[in-house]
Amino acid sequence: MGSNPKVTDWSSKQQPSMEIRRMRLEDVDHILEVEKQSFTTPWSREAFQNELTQNHFAHYVVVEMDGEIIGYCGMWMIVDEAHITNIALLPEYRGRGMGETLLRGMMQAAKTYGAKKMTLEVRVSNVAAQKLYEKLGFEQQGVRPNYYTDNMEDAYIMWVDL
Ligand SMILES: CC(C)(COP(=O)(O)OP(=O)(O)OC[C@H]1O[C@@H](n2cnc3c(N)ncnc32)[C@H](O)[C@@H]1OP(=O)(O)O)[C@@H](O)C(=O)NCCC(=O)NCCS
Repeated sequence: MGSNPKVTDWSSKQQPSMEIRRMRLEDVDHILEVEKQSFTTPWSREAFQNELTQNHFAHYVVVEMDGEIIGYCGMWMIVDEAHITNIALLPEYRGRGMGETLLRGMMQAAKTYGAKKMTLEVRVSNVAAQKLYEKLGFEQQGVRPNYYTDNMEDAYIMWVDL
């Protein structure tokens, strides 16, 4: 892990009214709404609270548009590997380049923290997300069979060198 996490500029403006900043406990209500609109098995309030208060490996950011939370992304920094836990935007904000900006920001932050590689899992059916990851250089390097418990769908494991 990088010696000084403060060097990461989490709050840099990426687009005129899009801002990325660290997630705070008071953001969780909004994040739960993003979850509900994005995933069949959304994470719970407790899961996010734990990530923010107990998990020292965890780094979470939110995306704000005109002051409203419209998405988020999280990762765990484990030695020199960054594991993306989740990335999601409210449906009406997708397809405008914000997911790409968000993930590029996480890759940059992970590098700053000392990560050499980044990994994530993605449903085999989630082609849109896979295309985003491929665009940013991720490659499929394995499969976790029956990884998603709601429908026993497999996950692709993807990696990128940072
Ligand atoms: C995955 C997600 C974060 C992508 O964010 P986004 O803002 O919609 O994506 P962007 O507009 O930044 O697109 C960037 C690239 O991703 C790919 N992409 C995005 N949406 C796509 C779609 N519907 N179909 C195919 N490719 C797509 C394209 O390669 C695109 O680049 P291009 O515009 O040059 O073609 C967003 O769609 C989302 O929140 N999905 C629901 C939650 C989810 O599935 N998260 C991933 C869990 S692993």
